[in-house]
Amino acid sequence: MKAVKIKDNVYWVGAVDWNLRNFHGYLTQRGSTYNSYLIIDDKVTLIDNVKSYLFEEQLERIKSVIDPSKIDIIIQNHIEMDHSGSLPLIKEYCPNAEIYATAKGAEGLNRHFKKNWQINVVSGGSTLKLGKRQIAFVPTPMVHWPDNMVSYSGYDKILFSNDAFGQHIASQERFDSEYPMGIIEEEAAKYYANIVLPYGAQVVKALKVASELDIEWILPSHGLIWHDHIPRLMELYDIWANNRTVNKALVIYDSMWGSTELMAKMIRDTFEESGVVAELYNLQKTHMSDLMTRILDARYICIGSPTLNNNILPTVAAFLTYFKGLAPKGRKGLAFGSYGWGGQSIPILDKAFEEMKFEKMNPIKMKFIPDGSELESASEKLKIEIEQFK
Ligand code: FEO
Repeated sequence: MKAVKIKDNVYWVGAVDWNLRNFHGYLTQRGSTYNSYLIIDDKVTLIDNVKSYLFEEQLERIKSVIDPSKIDIIIQNHIEMDHSGSLPLIKEYCPNAEIYATAKGAEGLNRHFKKNWQINVVSGGSTLKLGKRQIAFVPTPMVHWPDNMVSYSGYDKILFSNDAFGQHIASQERFDSEYPMGIIEEEAAKYYANIVLPYGAQVVKALKVASELDIEWILPSHGLIWHDHIPRLMELYDIWANNRTVNKALVIYDSMWGSTELMAKMIRDTFEESGVVAELYNLQKTHMSDLMTRILDARYICIGSPTLNNNILPTVAAFLTYFKGLAPKGRKGLAFGSYGWGGQSIPILDKAFEEMKFEKMNPIKMKFIPDGSELESASEKLKIEIEQFK
């Protein structure tokens, strides 16, 4: 396994996780990469690491460029274990290499690995001279952990962005020019929706910092390296970070005996008839992390559950927990469901929208199996409400 040259004396020395299918609950159908980068200058510098079980792959790639004992500096932009797992292992090859991280990063690394490393703590405005190159450090707290930072080499016009701008894609190709852009966009959206979404305000600040830098390359810690499509990437992040939505409704539900499903289809049809793009998803068939990608630009979120044991169905509860944690903002929420006697599922869903500060639509509840006239009447009322929102 060989390193991949990005520019003169800058190499990709990461690892490809072809079989990764679950990233703490996020379905990663295309696998992922953990990108690590090597800079050869007066000071040989390694930027970020890989998961511990892929260390041999990283090591072999480093060895294809240089003896790993010659590494002088390790910059750890983020401490999550997909990027720090191999740090103690590479340190065995270069015990004198100095580690650079934010204060939170330094604390986290020593705590996680039970070490007492003397880590060089950097903050906004800190720089590090490597030789021809000078690295500038830019903390990006909560994009997406408190320790996060990005590193910038003005000499190379490269932003080492760590998790920001990543995509979970395992591939032989390393550059955005070599891989279908439609797939990169889809995976960048899924990554944003499932990892970065709660931190829109912090992303807006990070984008402002990035806009002031002269950037030709963005080297994230997952997936393809950005070069040809940076303007499109910036456009997408600007849309997502600012919660800009389109005229689209997602109808998400589970059903016990088909009644809530009848309602879901009526709601889907009503949005369509009102000129709103509508999509219908059964939670037994669609993974919640794929739903989050669809939610990224949806203005209307409709969630339905029948009442079971005075509550919502477990499938809907699991989705709701995930959805609330990722905290999309500025949407309109519609709760719906059928019931036999108590009908508690509808207020539970409606309250969730309230907690998320969504603009609430009138909940729709129907007893037992709705008949045609009940569905028609609810549809007419919903049409009027959609018109008011337009
Ligand atoms: Fe890719 Fe926050 O780790």
